[in-house]
This record gives sequence, structure tokens and C-alpha cells, in this order.
Amino acid sequence: MEKRPLIICTDPGIDDFVALSMLLHRPDFEILGIICISGNVGLDITVNNALLACELNGREGIPVIAGSAKPLCRPARTACNIHGKSGLGESVERYSKRSAQKLDAAAFIADATRRLPGKLEVLSLGPLTDVAIAIDRYPEIRSLFRSITVMGGGIHLGNATKYAEFNIVSDPEAAQIVYTSGSPVVMVGLDATQPCLIPRSRIAEMKADSELGNLIPAMLADYADVYRSVHGIEGLIIHDAICAVSLWHPEWFQTEKQHVEIMLTEDDHLGQTYILENEKPNCTVCMGCDTEKVNDEIIKAVQAVI
Ligand code: RIB
Ligand code: CA
Repeated sequence: MEKRPLIICTDPGIDDFVALSMLLHRPDFEILGIICISGNVGLDITVNNALLACELNGREGIPVIAGSAKPLCRPARTACNIHGKSGLGESVERYSKRSAQKLDAAAFIADATRRLPGKLEVLSLGPLTDVAIAIDRYPEIRSLFRSITVMGGGIHLGNATKYAEFNIVSDPEAAQIVYTSGSPVVMVGLDATQPCLIPRSRIAEMKADSELGNLIPAMLADYADVYRSVHGIEGLIIHDAICAVSLWHPEWFQTEKQHVEIMLTEDDHLGQTYILENEKPNCTVCMGCDTEKVNDEIIKAVQAVI
């Protein structure tokens, strides 16, 4: 079976780390590179955490590249109130011995699309800055992607603000470039991820006598603590892992073809993803998923790697 070439753009981040750990062991993907971006925490920390994910999952050979340190045209946001200063939870602070490869993120994406026309998949688990730079700097690649799957947005809800989801509102201009580029965008937003609440008690199913088998439960316990204190939610929603599952179980996700754009007004609606009914669809929007199957798949995938 031909492996699916994949570039992951990510801001690890606890849920990113879980998604990376799942993906780094899947035989059906050839991960060409991991592009780190500032988002949940600063760029130097997301790079460290991606390097750590590769080390702890035995995939040190995968290129880790430092992408954008800030959004296209506004100050960087942070979610360290959710992911802790280390980006991996308040109780976790681990440092990688390695450093990122000195490659340009946008050029790396563009080169891969040209080398693999119609085959390259991009999984975006953080702000869309580097994907937008690639599409803007090299417009000819817009039609060369097989897909750009985005954990981001929410037609009916937000989490960073009342109306906007964190990855989109962190760089709304970048999201607007990507969503209106004509590239094959698949939006796995809060409409699909928010209902996938995993009870805290199930963290124990992801514990084992191994480095990852101790690290991931520790991160998730911190994540659950914060979900209770910040969001008033009992349990945890591993957004990026849910989005990753959509790559190999798309049938578990209910989708609609819609025209989606991003609010760029400097008000409460900044970063809101909204549908324009009478416009040509530009996006496959996941409006829900089989939450039980998706959550069981995440736990099974983590159990396979710890
Ligand atoms: O809104 C959830 C998304 O924002 C996830 O990707 C999480 O890691 C943060 O980046
Ligand atoms: Ca993320």
C-alpha cells in the first residue's frame, strides 16, 4: 500500500503531542516533516516539544522545522493557561537535546507539493500562518495539495472567544488566505471536536510502565485540571487527536460542502468562521462525528504507542 505523504503543522501543545504520538506510529503515512509554529506556546517551546515527540516515539529522523514565530500581521496569542509554560502541562518540563533543521517552512511545503502533485496532505493543528505564507508566496501550488486538513474554527461555537476558535483567531488573516485559496480544505472544527468529551477516568487506560505511558497521562491529567478550572468542563477534549483520526476514519465524520470565510473585523467576531450560503463551496466542513468511535480510537492508538 502506497504511504500517504503528510506534512504536519503544529503548536505542541498537549493535544498536538497526543496527535503526533498517534501519527508517528501509523504505517499508512510517510511524515515528510513537522513544521512548528507559535500558538499554544512560543516557537522555541513548540519546536522543543515536537523534537521531544519524535525522540520519545523513536522517530528522530523526521525533519522538525521552525515555522513562524508570529502571525502574519498581529501579535502572537498564547494558550499557556491551558497547556502550561512548557506546553506539555504544568507538571511536565522536558528538554530535547536536538534542534530544528534550518529549512524555510513555506519553501518546504511548496517543494513537497511540486514533488508530489495531487498527493501531499497537510495536517494543520495550529495557526495557519505557514500554510498561508506558502500559498501566498507560491500561488501555483494551490491546486497541488491532495488536502489541507485544519483543526480549526467552529460554525456554531468558539473557545478562545465567544465566536472564534483558538487556531483561527490566532491568525485570522492567514486562515482567510487558506480557506479562500481554492485548495482542498477540510475543516475539523469545534462542531466536530467539542462533543468528543473523554471522561477523566479514561486517562488510566492510557497509562503504562514506560516513558510515554507516564508522560501522556501526566499531561492529560493537567489538561483535565485546566478544563475544569478554565472551561468548567469535567473531562478533556483532545482536539488535535480528534482531527488526526479524521485522516484515517473520514467515514466517522459528518461533512458538508460549504463556502467558509473568516471574520477580520476588530471586534468580538474576529476570527469567527462563517458560512456564505450562496457562494461556491471552498471547504469540506465537519459538522459532527461518531464521538464514541473517535474517542475509543484515540485511546486505542495511544495504548499502541505507550
Ligand atoms: O482550539 C483547539 C486548538 O487550539 C488545538 O489545536 C489546540 O492545540 C490549540 O492549538
Ligand atoms: Ca494545536
